[in-house]
Amino acid sequence: MVKLSGGNNVAICPMPVTLVGSIVNGHPNFMAVGWIARVNMSPPLVSLGLNHGSATRSAILENKEFSINFPSSKMVRETDYCGLTSGKKIDKSNIFTVFYGNSHQAPMISECPLSLECTLIESHDYASHTCIIGEIIGSYIDESCLTDGKPDQIKIDPLLLTMPDNTYWRIGEKVGKAWHEGKSLIDKD
Ligand SMILES: Cc1cc2nc3c(=O)[nH]c(=O)nc-3n(C[C@H](O)[C@H](O)[C@H](O)COP(=O)(O)O)c2cc1C
Repeated sequence: MVKLSGGNNVAICPMPVTLVGSIVNGHPNFMAVGWIARVNMSPPLVSLGLNHGSATRSAILENKEFSINFPSSKMVRETDYCGLTSGKKIDKSNIFTVFYGNSHQAPMISECPLSLECTLIESHDYASHTCIIGEIIGSYIDESCLTDGKPDQIKIDPLLLTMPDNTYWRIGEKVGKAWHEGKSLIDKD
C-alpha cells in the first residue's frame, strides 16, 4: 500500500460537537467546541482545547466552573451559530432555555439531551489554545434518551464533526460490540 505524508496538522475525527457554557459579562454564554476528550476515570476528568481569543476561555479561568452540553443533530444551526459568534461581542444568552445544577457559573441547555456540570481543575497555555482540565461534578440527561436506565446514543443523536471537510454528521451504522469482538482472536492463541 502506498502511504503519503499527511503533514502534522491532523484532525482526530469524528469529534462530538459540544456547547461549552459559562457566564460572560453576567450572562450565560455558549461556545461550540469539538476539541474535547475524557482523560481520567476517577475523578472523572475531561479536557478541552479553547482558543486564546474566546470569551469562554477567560470566563472559565475566572469563574472556575462551566458546563459541557451535547446538542442533538437537529440543533445544528444553533450550534454552528455559537461557533461563529463570540460572547465578547454578542449576547448568546437567549438562544436556548437555560437551567442550572448546583453551580451558578455553569449554565446548561434544556434543549440538549445531555449536559455535564464541571469545575476547573487546571489549565495549560499553549501557542494558540489553552488546555482546560475539568472535573465532572454532575450530569443531566433527558429521561427519553435512556434505554434500560443507561444513556442511549442513538436516542441522544449527538452532533458530530469531521475536519478538514468541516462537515456535520450523526451516528451511523453499528459494526460490533466493544471489549468483545477481539475475544475470538484471544481464543485462537
Ligand atoms: C463546529 C465548531 C467547532 C469548534 N471547536 C472549537 C474548539 O474545539 N476549540 C476552539 O477554541 N474553538 C472552536 N470553535 C470556534 C469557537 O466556537 C469560536 O471561537 C467562538 O466564537 C468562541 O465563542 P466565545 O467567544 O463566545 O467563547 C469551533 C467552532 C465550530 C463552528
